[in-house]
Amino acid sequence: MSKLWQKDYSLDSLMEEFTVSKDYILDQQLVIADALASIAHARGLELIGLLDEEDLSSLEEGLQEVIRLRQKDAFPITKSDEDCHTAIEGFLTDRIGEAGKRIHTGRSRNDQVQTALRLWMREFSLKLCRETGTLAKNLLLFAKRYEFVPMPGRTHMQIAMPSSVGLWAASFAEELYDEAQHLMQLSWTLDQSPLGSAASYGVPLALDREFVASEMGFSRVQNNVLYANNSRGKFEAMLLDSCDYIGLTISKLAQDLILFTLPEFGYFSLPQELCTGSSIMPQKKNPDGLELARSRSALVSACSMQVKSIIRSLPSGYNRDFQDTKEPLMQGTKATWTLVQIMALMLDGLIVNEEQLIQACVPSLYATDIVMQKVLEGGNFRDTYKDVGLHLDAVAALDPIETIKTRTSLGTTGNLALDDDLMFVNLMIDGCTQVLDSYGEAYESLCGIEGVETVLY
Ligand code: ARG
Repeated sequence: MSKLWQKDYSLDSLMEEFTVSKDYILDQQLVIADALASIAHARGLELIGLLDEEDLSSLEEGLQEVIRLRQKDAFPITKSDEDCHTAIEGFLTDRIGEAGKRIHTGRSRNDQVQTALRLWMREFSLKLCRETGTLAKNLLLFAKRYEFVPMPGRTHMQIAMPSSVGLWAASFAEELYDEAQHLMQLSWTLDQSPLGSAASYGVPLALDREFVASEMGFSRVQNNVLYANNSRGKFEAMLLDSCDYIGLTISKLAQDLILFTLPEFGYFSLPQELCTGSSIMPQKKNPDGLELARSRSALVSACSMQVKSIIRSLPSGYNRDFQDTKEPLMQGTKATWTLVQIMALMLDGLIVNEEQLIQACVPSLYATDIVMQKVLEGGNFRDTYKDVGLHLDAVAALDPIETIKTRTSLGTTGNLALDDDLMFVNLMIDGCTQVLDSYGEAYESLCGIEGVETVLY
């Protein structure tokens, strides 16, 4: 299709290459969101008398066809199209003629791309929230299974105090829960419709923005039309920041696993299917997946920084620079999604070596426990500490399992409150499903196709 802004000249081919870049490829992710938003927009135009019923129904049919084609991976977008918005309008005009030429009334590609991105990010944020919540849940179930398996607790990486596999695993679960919560809060920020803001300044037509927003299942309109456009990149950065926290936690979990699965530690082992080998050293069983989890998390962080760097000094209103925030958005979100999946796989296959963990609980681990025992017998802490410290050779190993059970204050090895954690995580997972279902219902009443999703993984 010729460009939407085509008049009486053709764009220089190098300039086309430069300005379109990978946008037409990246936009495959946005086709369904854009088609759904276009149905809502067309309904809004009909409501205020700018489209007749016949045009509306042929537009709706055309847009349903776009969705079906995209679901079969068969909706083409070419470089000369520039983006999905042009390709969709071109498809409609080819198919239904005149009505296709009316769909762009009252909107700009600026609010159009914002709306498609908003629908996509709103859905992604909750899907990632649910997936992260599920990983947290699996870590809690793992913690429950190994609740009273002792494990040396370390500070400065040195042997510190008695701990447990349960405490270790649940610590990551709670961390991921908080990060998933971050996404849930963000999904509320994302749940506002920018449509109707047009190029950045609205249009002199009586668009019913609230009606169009509710057709898409948005809880509200993003009020200020200039802000609606200026929030491009900003919301992407917020989403990538949430991803960054998840990546950071997964990277630290991966690091712990790399360490604790070393034969020298032997606390855990990874099944062969999750390890790779060496081309020269036949004995090697390498945790490449965990290592790449560390590096991919750095990539997510870089994506977030990239978006913020692009938008930092932009003047108000749409600027083409925004287009370049799409690639880091798609790259960083996909990388985070994969990280969560990979970590779930690793956890599922993780073997806990109880014997080795017990053996690793060497006498020095109990030095503080001995101090506490003496304090309970009436000694003052500082003198007792010094006395035990000066006679470390006399510190004998305690029973590791009994020892971790003697800690009874909340959150310690004997009182992890895993059931409370599980209850909160389950509530969050169910909450995500409920809201995602409500989006699904809105999409179904827009296009009549069951189970439509905007995020296509
Ligand atoms: N593909 C473009 C983007 O992502 C769509 C908006 C183009 N708008 C414009 N004024 N050139 O930003």
